[in-house]
Amino acid sequence: MELSSKIYIAGHNGMVGSAILRYLKQKGYTNFLLKSSAELDLTNQEKVALFFESEKPDYVFLAAAKVGGIEANNTYRGQFLYENLMIQNNVIHQSYAHKVKKLLFYASSCIYPKYASQPINEDALLTGSLEPTNEPYAIAKIAGIKLCENYNRQYGCNFISVMPTNLYGPNDNYDLNNSHVLPALLRKFHEAKINNKSTVEVWGTGEPKREFLHVDDLAAASFNLMQNYSLDISVNIGTGTDISIKNLAELIKKIVDYKGEIIWNNDKPDGTPRKLLDVSLINSLGWKYSIELENGIREVYTNKFLKK
Ligand SMILES: NC(=O)c1ccc[n+]([C@@H]2O[C@H](COP(=O)([O-])OP(=O)(O)OC[C@H]3O[C@@H](n4cnc5c(N)ncnc54)[C@H](OP(=O)(O)O)[C@@H]3O)[C@@H](O)[C@H]2O)c1
Repeated sequence: MELSSKIYIAGHNGMVGSAILRYLKQKGYTNFLLKSSAELDLTNQEKVALFFESEKPDYVFLAAAKVGGIEANNTYRGQFLYENLMIQNNVIHQSYAHKVKKLLFYASSCIYPKYASQPINEDALLTGSLEPTNEPYAIAKIAGIKLCENYNRQYGCNFISVMPTNLYGPNDNYDLNNSHVLPALLRKFHEAKINNKSTVEVWGTGEPKREFLHVDDLAAASFNLMQNYSLDISVNIGTGTDISIKNLAELIKKIVDYKGEIIWNNDKPDGTPRKLLDVSLINSLGWKYSIELENGIREVYTNKFLKK
């Protein structure tokens, strides 16, 4: 990408898209194409075709998607499959049709088999059954990876895809029914503290282990790959270390300075027992995470909940 390149960030209002935009602006890029979902519904084939026809972007970051935590994935199963397939089919196909130089597609670490051996290497893709609660979302993302891969093979495109681990950072979603575990816990503990509640209920057993990456680190990794990587292997992006949900809850309790008790609701599903990515490929390409979990959560908590 050159500084004058026309860059379309699909989903620029979201957590990932906004981090890419911040990062590229810092690097001196200025020529952005940005459309909210209200301005351009990416599930609409005709509108997406017209947009690419008139704007002809050079580079595309495809970070628009229907995204949510375990409850949302499990409840809105049809929507997660349909909307994600439509968004990615439209954007990837029009990127091919209008000769986009390079596209980066955001998949997710939940596309790996539920019982993949840990840490999960890129070659574990399609080697076993998926976690049932997010199967529709994972099927859509796998289709997106395969679309990129096969457009490269058939048409000579330069479309790459990445598998980020669980992300957190500015512009995260804090809706308690629809959010991922880390922002949901931050909000629960914060509200319990300011409302002087003696307990906080947390879903599941606390046993599963998860890996968390600050979205600004993802933006740096994405930039590295956009500049230096063009293979068909979808690249894992993570820290290579994980933490149990129990320990995460204790860490957030400490950061928020909440003095009450944690109650575990075992009626809620745990999801995949462990999901740690093997990050040796991205590390070998010269990128490593830089924001430690405790520092990252402190920064997010201060900016989101403590600053006026
Ligand atoms: N969050 C994570 O932990 C995580 C982990 C791994 C991978 N990822 C991947 O990263 C990507 C971005 O995730 P995120 O966390 O940034 O999600 P997000 O904050 O929910 O942002 C998603 C964006 O997609 C846009 N969008 C949704 N439906 C659209 C439609 N029909 N037409 C146009 N735009 C639409 C939304 O635009 P508006 O705001 O304008 O409505 C929103 O800004 C996703 O592909 C996700 O799978 C995320």
